[in-house]
Amino acid sequence: MRGPEPFLVAQLSDPHVSDDDDDRGRLLADAVRAVAALDPAPGAVLVTGDLAEHGSAREYEQVRELLSALAMPVHVLGGNHDDGEALRASFPLPGADDEDYRYTTRCGPLRVVGCDTTLPGRDEGSLAAERLAWLDARLAEDRETPTVVAMHHPPLLMGIPAWDEIGLPDADRAALGEVVSAHPHVRRIVAGHVHRTVLGSLGACPVFACPSTWIQSLLDFAHPDRLSVVPEPPGFALHAAVAGELVSHVQPVGDW
Ligand SMILES: [Fe+2]
Ligand SMILES: [Fe+2]
Repeated sequence: MRGPEPFLVAQLSDPHVSDDDDDRGRLLADAVRAVAALDPAPGAVLVTGDLAEHGSAREYEQVRELLSALAMPVHVLGGNHDDGEALRASFPLPGADDEDYRYTTRCGPLRVVGCDTTLPGRDEGSLAAERLAWLDARLAEDRETPTVVAMHHPPLLMGIPAWDEIGLPDADRAALGEVVSAHPHVRRIVAGHVHRTVLGSLGACPVFACPSTWIQSLLDFAHPDRLSVVPEPPGFALHAAVAGELVSHVQPVGDW
């Protein structure tokens, strides 16, 4: 018996498209092609930051051009490698006049609240009081629709100090946990930044980090002060809303 058809949101992350390295654009193009070939087609695509390596206008134009092959709405967020102004110039937000690059959007049966966790010139993230108050207010606007909260820095400890130093501070993670615990319609927090698939939780809310479309981080607990990258398969995530629930899949890209 055929079950209900899922509504799919594809998540791409950390393409780090660079003026100095054509490979990264080619790899993003591969991921875009893989998403475009899905049947049923995703209803939306979310790109969770580090779109560009250096934050130059040319890099964002390349990202925009590559993503324009997707027929469905595409929503992006900034990461620590991004430049807020250049990002906004290539991916304008309708009606948004605040400093943060953040928004809410409806994706089929889901609502997505995109948060800005970036600090200009810094690799670590921040969800200081004003940002959490904004998120709380957005979540309070609609307490019925199953909601995905998206951001660049995952509110998780990786257990690898070098990563955790450029994550979200303990106090910000704890405060975010209080916000989402008051909003049980938040089904998932999705993020990027760590360049690998990671699953954890913040209170009762699952937290998911997506692999990069470019390069992955080495799973290395033996050298906790070192961040290493490794050419493991690039991938993307598919969040499937089905029968009122949300299930997340990870799909490698390429010929494996
Ligand atoms: Fe990244
Ligand atoms: Fe990042």
